[in-house]
Amino acid sequence: MQNIPLLSLNDGYKIPAIGYGTYPLDNPQAETAVREALSCGYRLFDTAANYGNESGVGTGLLSFDVGRTDIFVTTKLRGRDQGYDSTMRAFDASLQRLKMSYIDLYLIHWPLPMKDLYVESWKALVQLQKDGRVRSIGVSNFLPEHLTRIIDATGVTPAVNQIEMHADFAQREALEVHKKLGILTEAWSPLGRGSVLENPVVGRVAQRHNRTPAQVLLRWVVQMGAVPLPKSAHPARMKANIEIFDFELSETDMNDLATIDGNHRTGADPATCTEE
Ligand code: A2P
Repeated sequence: MQNIPLLSLNDGYKIPAIGYGTYPLDNPQAETAVREALSCGYRLFDTAANYGNESGVGTGLLSFDVGRTDIFVTTKLRGRDQGYDSTMRAFDASLQRLKMSYIDLYLIHWPLPMKDLYVESWKALVQLQKDGRVRSIGVSNFLPEHLTRIIDATGVTPAVNQIEMHADFAQREALEVHKKLGILTEAWSPLGRGSVLENPVVGRVAQRHNRTPAQVLLRWVVQMGAVPLPKSAHPARMKANIEIFDFELSETDMNDLATIDGNHRTGADPATCTEE
């Protein structure tokens, strides 16, 4: 089993360099998958109130012989719970479903600028962190203007912004902004929901290294400075997907992979997404 490196967050906590994404598993599937992922070596688990699987994730984690401080659990505030008091209540409910006394990382799932509640929600996350109920706080799908606004309002910079990112949607500008602000980028759908796996450029790079296309795409995320959160329901793929810390893509490989960036989203646009 490979050792997964740890990266430092801007608040002093450490996060594994790759994680296991749990969308769109339901509770029973998540329970089995999380146990399997633990035995493959994953230690970072990513769920959300909106996935409807926090309870299964929590049961899966409890069923495996691993210390609480050896795992890193992320969950997210859903749209309908945004606002100061409702965030506090939603956090309690997530904690209960996960069967945990604290969460490692709590994120605002989408900014929902049309609701204009993300600043109030961010203030609640800041308070939850002060109260010691969550170790790190961050956001997901925030555009630079949303980041600036919450930082200006509270003086607290998110530890993480989790965004869609893969070789066909490389997010170079967002990465640059995050780097300047000291925010770690997490990549959801790092395989472009499977759409980039068949790309011939990826295939050629994979052949050069005797690796799978998925391993090349995940290693690319790591070398771009982000934390990939791949999801697979299949144990063999789960295992292969974390075996990416014993090879390195060369400058030529990275340049070749840069040619496939078509600025193609596979998911919603944060400026208009109305997640409830
Ligand atoms: P499956 O669960 O059947 O393995 P993303 O993380 O970008 O959203 O992509 C997830 C999709 O990629 C899922 O459909 C998953 O299918 C598939 N997938 C994950 N890992 C691999 C892999 N190593 N090889 C091929 N497909 C994969």
